[in-house]
Amino acid sequence: MSADEEKRAAGEAAAGLVEAGMSVGLGTGSTAAWFVRALAERKLDVRCVPTSQATADLATSLGLRLAELGEVSRLDLTVDGADEIGPGLALIKGGGAALLREKLVWEASARCVVIADAAKQVALLGAFPLPIEVVAFGHATTALRICDALVSCDIGVAPRLRMKDGEAVRTDNGNLIYDAACGRIEHPATLADALKSVTGVVDHGLFLDLADQALVGTPKGVLTLEP
Ligand code: A5P
Repeated sequence: MSADEEKRAAGEAAAGLVEAGMSVGLGTGSTAAWFVRALAERKLDVRCVPTSQATADLATSLGLRLAELGEVSRLDLTVDGADEIGPGLALIKGGGAALLREKLVWEASARCVVIADAAKQVALLGAFPLPIEVVAFGHATTALRICDALVSCDIGVAPRLRMKDGEAVRTDNGNLIYDAACGRIEHPATLADALKSVTGVVDHGLFLDLADQALVGTPKGVLTLEP
């Protein structure tokens, strides 16, 4: 079974959780896209809040009804992918640079379900470089302060500005992304607090105590994990 088949199986399983009348947060990335396609096929009367322009475009093309986050005070369910799923369903997200809108939508949701292929499950977070969204103004200075925050957590790496085709990647919010190749994140909550205390950091890809359930596609079927 390929990783894409595992992602598809997880996305389809998650679409089965949606009921008519729900407000649903739509994640970003290749796994979330499988969920969006499977949800659209069910032709339910639901309102969907996308976490990126890419997801909004996909959902619109499939006929799903979109709403702004502010129009929906509390979402019933959000389904989204992840870059790593660690113990307790602690996550690294943001490989697609959508972490800020994702976190805003997750935090507004009564229930959050993460969907993934089997390779995303890890014993310890940190092999996937941690995305950190920063405002563009003074970002090189902010990066130095991020370094200090990492060192305070015994992580001695310099974050790297994310580039694509020779240009710095801009998020949907107009910000920049730095990726910190931490290697091992022994204390994610401490690191999350340290990063959020840096002025200029908008948010980071550590999603802690947010996921209620994970649906992981494996060759043996879709596994359900709880925190
Ligand atoms: C988007 O910013 C990310 O949080 C994605 O949800 C994450 O990178 C997973 O992407 P894939 O489903 O494409 O692996």
